[in-house]
Amino acid sequence: MSEGESLQISFQILFLHIWSCLKLYLIGVYALLKELAEKTVVPAFEELSTDGLVAIVTGGASGIGYQVSRKLALKNVHVFIAGRSKQEADEAIAKIRAELSTVRVQFLHLDLASLTSVRSFVENFLHTGLPLHILINNAGVMLVPYSETEDGLETHFQVNYLSHLYLTSLLLNKMKASGTPDRCAHIINVSSIVHWVADATDIKPSHTSISSYSPHSAYASSKLAVIMSTYILSQLLKADNSNVTANCLHPGVVNTNLYDNIHWSVRWVMDIMRHLFFKDAIEAANSVVFLALSPLVESHTGAYYDNCKVSQSKHCTYSKTCQYNLAKMSCELLGIQSLNQTS
Ligand SMILES: NC(=O)c1ccc[n+]([C@@H]2O[C@H](COP(=O)([O-])OP(=O)(O)OC[C@H]3O[C@@H](n4cnc5c(N)ncnc54)[C@H](OP(=O)(O)O)[C@@H]3O)[C@@H](O)[C@H]2O)c1
Ligand SMILES: *[C@@H]1O[C@H](CO)[C@@H](O)[C@H](O)[C@H]1NC(C)=O
Ligand SMILES: *[C@@H]1O[C@H](CO)[C@@H](O)[C@H](O)[C@H]1NC(C)=O
Repeated sequence: MSEGESLQISFQILFLHIWSCLKLYLIGVYALLKELAEKTVVPAFEELSTDGLVAIVTGGASGIGYQVSRKLALKNVHVFIAGRSKQEADEAIAKIRAELSTVRVQFLHLDLASLTSVRSFVENFLHTGLPLHILINNAGVMLVPYSETEDGLETHFQVNYLSHLYLTSLLLNKMKASGTPDRCAHIINVSSIVHWVADATDIKPSHTSISSYSPHSAYASSKLAVIMSTYILSQLLKADNSNVTANCLHPGVVNTNLYDNIHWSVRWVMDIMRHLFFKDAIEAANSVVFLALSPLVESHTGAYYDNCKVSQSKHCTYSKTCQYNLAKMSCELLGIQSLNQTS
């Protein structure tokens, strides 16, 4: 390759990096303005009985996940906080217990950067013999530098998307057995409005050259994959007439630790914005709990929610071809026949 050509390629890569970065911040600003214009309203609902309900919340010890675990536990749901750090979870559990001593919340170890960990988590959960009515796929990472998991996959791809898909498929039989027609079991995937800046072709399990890796694009495309997999599986669930629903949502622009990996050059602006304008995790959690407990959306399935309303996701998420390709790639990576296969 001549020097001119390699310089041209370097410029192209630089341009792509800047463009992925810019797109993410633009959609972020758009989301924030939209939120400031239309206040969050969680429709009031008369709850059905929550007696005997069991929930798993991934990343349930901090941020939005913590507030979701807390809300559900205070409403008498038996909550499993699935996360990497026992210490963090124990602190979270102690805080919830201080509010109400009779809550049922417990920790189960889950590291989404490992498929082996996902499998042992599921074994441990099934070992309790409890049913499973609510699965909240909430854990996530954002803008981490290029790294590969022990399974050789890019971290955003595996943690935000593939391991959750695997977790869901391994728990599906249990959920099918736990839902009833008037009380479906619910899968809720936390996605993001930033999926709009990604394309189905950006979804990559790993990168051969690190220079082509953009953390901005990796985050956005993992969230796009979450939406597409929600659509794919909800169709399969509907076709089976199963008593399980699956929905996803954008929780809002929320002040949490998720922004820890943001570049130092914009961090100070972000820090000011976070404190002044971002939603707090409690508000965001309310819109997740709405999907888990409200009779208003009890049997609704296969939708993307923003601010408690069904919303359009990016057009490519509805493409049958793109959905098929993603399902095929994911099944190959997991060594399973179909996303509906449950063991
Ligand atoms: N904040 C926002 O503005 C915003 C906007 C749109 C969507 N979201 C989505 O909302 C969800 C929750 O994020 P958040 O804002 O609440 O951020 P957060 O406070 O950083 O929470 C992320 C959670 O994921 C867990 N996690 C990360 N890697 C993990 C792994 N390998 N295995 C198991 N758990 C892991 C973290 O646990 P550790 O403590 O162990 O790291 C943490 O509990 C994410 O899916 C995020 O993409 C957030
Ligand atoms: C989202 O929900 C579907 C169920 O429709 C599930 O198969 C999938 O694993 C979930 N995806 C993620 C990444 O959370
Ligand atoms: C849905 O629940 C009802 C009542 O428990 C049960 O009879 C039915 O078989 C369930 N549907 C499926 C597909 O499992």
